[in-house]
Amino acid sequence: MKKIDLRSDTVTQPTDDMRKAMAAAEVGDDVFGEDPSVNRLQERMAGLLGKEQALFVASGTMGNLVSILTHTRPGDEVILEAQSHPFHYEFAGAAAFGGVQFFPVPGNHGILDAEDVAPAIRPDDGHHSPTRLICLENTHNRGGGKVYPLEKIERIRALAEQHHLVMHMDGARLFNATVATGIPPADYCAPFDSVSVCLSKGLGCPVGSVIAGPADWVKEARRFRKRLGGGMRQAGILAAAGLYALDHHIDQLAEDHRRAKQLANALSQIPLFEFTPSSVETNIIVLPIHDPETTPAEVVSKLQNEGVLCVPFGPREIRLVTHLGITDGDVARVIEIFNKLFAGQT
Ligand SMILES: Cc1ncc(COP(=O)(O)O)c(C=O)c1O
Repeated sequence: MKKIDLRSDTVTQPTDDMRKAMAAAEVGDDVFGEDPSVNRLQERMAGLLGKEQALFVASGTMGNLVSILTHTRPGDEVILEAQSHPFHYEFAGAAAFGGVQFFPVPGNHGILDAEDVAPAIRPDDGHHSPTRLICLENTHNRGGGKVYPLEKIERIRALAEQHHLVMHMDGARLFNATVATGIPPADYCAPFDSVSVCLSKGLGCPVGSVIAGPADWVKEARRFRKRLGGGMRQAGILAAAGLYALDHHIDQLAEDHRRAKQLANALSQIPLFEFTPSSVETNIIVLPIHDPETTPAEVVSKLQNEGVLCVPFGPREIRLVTHLGITDGDVARVIEIFNKLFAGQT
């Protein structure tokens, strides 16, 4: 039985053409700054994101960590959304390696307004650790792939400027946001001092993320990357996958979104999972389970027995993610299986 893997957009396999591009990559020692493929990827990403320079890093987690370390000093505080990836899934890296404290602020499906952020900014006095950085996530993973409205970001930026704070975007799925809205990446990044973008999610690369910002900031970030063991040598093999993805895999994100919406529409009609399908804006569906007797683990296990993989996602939800490896046929099959297993249940 072919497995249909909707656990995450990180499960994508590099395509044959991507593998060919990787095999043919020109490489050098990137710690010496001599890998032509890495340099090309960094230049291209810096241009796309509208920043002076970019830096290839091993993962989204490393991208966020290096960025936070570069922006802060031990004892500083970082404001981020309470469901954000760095707060939930990055093993307290900023605290462990940077002595940095997080101030998590609850948002609406991961989205914060300036009014939510303002009370979290510490007064400049003898009682508080100084607020230094605001991190926002676009699209928001635990928020169900929510796209950050640009106006909200701009209002938070104005607040940050009033208080002399810097801003970082966890743009692991930035291109999902740009494809969903038509807003160019550089416009989305303009209100931020730095951004981190993943290549190994919807873009389908096996490894890698890119961070970007001002040249002097990237120079400092490069030191933190090395300190964390992220100075890679012939990394051009990996960067070549990124270059390939920029050419071939950005536009297809719209197909992932279309399939997620199709799936959301169909699943929302099953009473056990009823929800508003228009809440699905990109490639992530967070599906509520209404029957208190049915646990997410049970739903996941029944689906797994039919070859459909997804993950429990909170006490009453499961998550399904569309990606490069999911076809229209897979979506039709998943709908059929959900109906067979759950249509009679409320
Ligand atoms: C929003 C967000 N940021 C960062 C990451 C971390 O990426 P990685 O798994 O490459 O460390 C993820 C991974 O799922 C994510 O969803």
